Amino acid sequence: MSTQQAEPESQEAPEDPEMKGAESPQERRLDDKDDGMVDEHSEKKAELEGETVLIKVFRYDPEVEGKQEPRFDDFHVPFEKGMTVLDAVMYARDEYDSSLTFRHSCRQAVCGSDAFFVNGRQRLGCKTQISDLDQPVRIEPLPHQEVVKDLVVDMDHFYDQMHTVEPYFQDGDTPAVDDLEEQRQSPENREKIKMSSRCIWCGACMSSCNIAAGDNEYLGPAAINKAYKFAMDDREDEQIKEHRLRILEQEHGVWRCQTQFSCTEVCPKDIPLTEHIQELKREAVKKNLKFW
Ligand code: SF4
Ligand code: FES
Repeated sequence: MSTQQAEPESQEAPEDPEMKGAESPQERRLDDKDDGMVDEHSEKKAELEGETVLIKVFRYDPEVEGKQEPRFDDFHVPFEKGMTVLDAVMYARDEYDSSLTFRHSCRQAVCGSDAFFVNGRQRLGCKTQISDLDQPVRIEPLPHQEVVKDLVVDMDHFYDQMHTVEPYFQDGDTPAVDDLEEQRQSPENREKIKMSSRCIWCGACMSSCNIAAGDNEYLGPAAINKAYKFAMDDREDEQIKEHRLRILEQEHGVWRCQTQFSCTEVCPKDIPLTEHIQELKREAVKKNLKFW
């Protein structure tokens, strides 16, 4: 016997699958992100008013004997409306333990310095509401990067990979000063590279990538996205584009990506990283096609 109860007939018109199909994959992913958050968010926020939240923070200090063994410290932080993960660790540092170490600067998702591993996922501390998270909130440094102290990781390798793709505009032969003229970009071309230009160098994508974890030379999603920004810019010279594609199609470049979408899932700026990488793969193939 079935234990399922009959669903009451819905008054709403059924969803038109054709309409759903009209969205781009990136729009669907962003919708899914939002769908999972809204109701839960307001419910939890109501529960937390006037409460304290427990945060469990990863601790490690290689320079202090007795703190060289990694551990978690518990901090009970009074919840305030709008409190972010960054607010919570700042409270813990200011009120309980001034040695608690982490990076932060802008507090508005612009500088990219406070990417942490929060409840098992890469997130920006200043963009993540405590009320959106299950308790206790577990805060760790980004995985796959060497820990310097507490929540601070060594970003040198990430920056090196970013610089490998020559992340600056190059327009071929520079004309004489008298011949310099404005180089205009079409609105369509600007739209095409708009999302790629939002990167804040936080490193969350690289930390989430299984391929980068197993191949230290892999350029990684952020660097490839940075190259995409310039490779797709119509104002760059064709020869420079070819040069960029040669960097990207090397052994540890775009072909390493296995379209797992982990980078796209965690990017706090919602950049469609995996799609950009696939587009560059297509460009690399086109460049190498020969017709006799
Ligand atoms: S692509 Fe996104 S996740 Fe990666 S470094 Fe840039 S902003 Fe951070
Ligand atoms: S503090 Fe700048 S991005 Fe979070």
